[in-house]
Amino acid sequence: MLQQTTSSAKRLKAGKMLEYAIFAVTFVVFLIAAVIYLYPGSSKPSSIPGLDPTTEEDGNVSDIARAGSLHEFLLDLHKQFGSIASFWMGQKFVVSIHSPELFKQHQNVFDRPPELFKLFEPFIGTASIQYANGKDGRNRRNHYDKPLSHESLKQYYNDFQEVANELEKKWSTLVKEEHIPLSQYMSAFALKIVLRALFGQSFKDDKEVLEFRRNYDICWSEMERNLTEPAEPGSQRQKVFEEAYSVIKNIMENIIKHRKENPPKENEDKLLVDVILETVTSESQKFDDCITFAVGGLHTTGNALTWCFYFLATHPEVQDKVYKEIKKELGNNDVDFKNINDLRFDPDRFSPENVKSRPAMAFQPFGFAGKRICPGYRFAYAEATVCLVTLLRKFKVNMVEGQVVNPVHGLVTHPEDEIWITIEKR
Ligand code: HEM
Repeated sequence: MLQQTTSSAKRLKAGKMLEYAIFAVTFVVFLIAAVIYLYPGSSKPSSIPGLDPTTEEDGNVSDIARAGSLHEFLLDLHKQFGSIASFWMGQKFVVSIHSPELFKQHQNVFDRPPELFKLFEPFIGTASIQYANGKDGRNRRNHYDKPLSHESLKQYYNDFQEVANELEKKWSTLVKEEHIPLSQYMSAFALKIVLRALFGQSFKDDKEVLEFRRNYDICWSEMERNLTEPAEPGSQRQKVFEEAYSVIKNIMENIIKHRKENPPKENEDKLLVDVILETVTSESQKFDDCITFAVGGLHTTGNALTWCFYFLATHPEVQDKVYKEIKKELGNNDVDFKNINDLRFDPDRFSPENVKSRPAMAFQPFGFAGKRICPGYRFAYAEATVCLVTLLRKFKVNMVEGQVVNPVHGLVTHPEDEIWITIEKR
């Protein structure tokens, strides 16, 4: 699927390119989200084709480890058993679906099995929205969706533009030959945006951003590694995780404390952090939901932007088209909530033949539409578009030659190593 999409990338324009990058980033999340039914018990409760448990205790966890990731395991599973297939996650019987038609039948479901994301509990906490189902989950989502609604999005464009301008200014000081660490810049961009727009906080300086990112990366890669190579309790690996986690925890606690002490004035809009603080009552829920949104906003969008610039750098003819489109549609104007839709438009995508040939739910990078769709999807599109427009209208992006870029399929697909680019001023 990845290869198929790669070959069609040449035809993509700006919006398509962004969608492609988002697809690449979220494919794994999408597959994981497709794993829908979990039944307790140790005997197979249905006739759905699939794997028998390899061991009674771990089910097919060792097979997942052997495949390298859940993503690769699920691809093999569906190749072998078709679009609906089962396996065992420990003692839980799991059914995974893998076709737009089946997704459609599932689109009104809100509840999500907490077991699927248990791996991330040490970071996002047991009280996180990620694990909340039923009345509690829906209530929290009803409140949290408001500061991320279409209407509320308007208030964030200034923040998006300010952070993008800072980045553009920084890149302007670099010389043509300088090698630029792409994913470091893109995750810093996504992190600054989330903190500024949703939590009302800015980092003191870039050193603090880098410290957050470094510790965050340690935590995240350790949790992903735990799926295939569980760490022993009390091991060095666990200690390293705990140290890194305490840095992030400390930063997030300070951000929340600062906001509690400086709530919005009557004439000011409420930010997501304010809504979280007034919606849930327990301190652990407040903290866990704040960190979940910070992670949701940083990890996904940072990687989407990284892939987007990577594909533009490796497809210079598409990059030229994007540049021309920006000039044509915006001239020298910034992106705002009115003109943003002029930039996603690819007339071919809506030709009758194309619409007919595409299943209704073929492209759902933010979840199965319906009830549990990612709350930040509008926010992510808007911030990514502002970033792309601001940088691409000023710079041509090129790859540093001789790199091999391998995708790693964690919760979010990310490059195995840093991607290095160079830029030329336009
Ligand atoms: C390119 C960017 C992004 C992608 C591809 C993405 C994708 C996803 C997906 C696939 C889900 C799971 C949906 C499901 O279970 O059906 C999700 C959930 C979530 N996302 Fe995003 N996301 C992105 C950006 C963001 C941003 C910017 C935020 C924060 C503002 C965010 C916050 C969250 C949260 C909190 C959840 C869990 C919601 C819940 O449990 O109800 N995401 N996202």
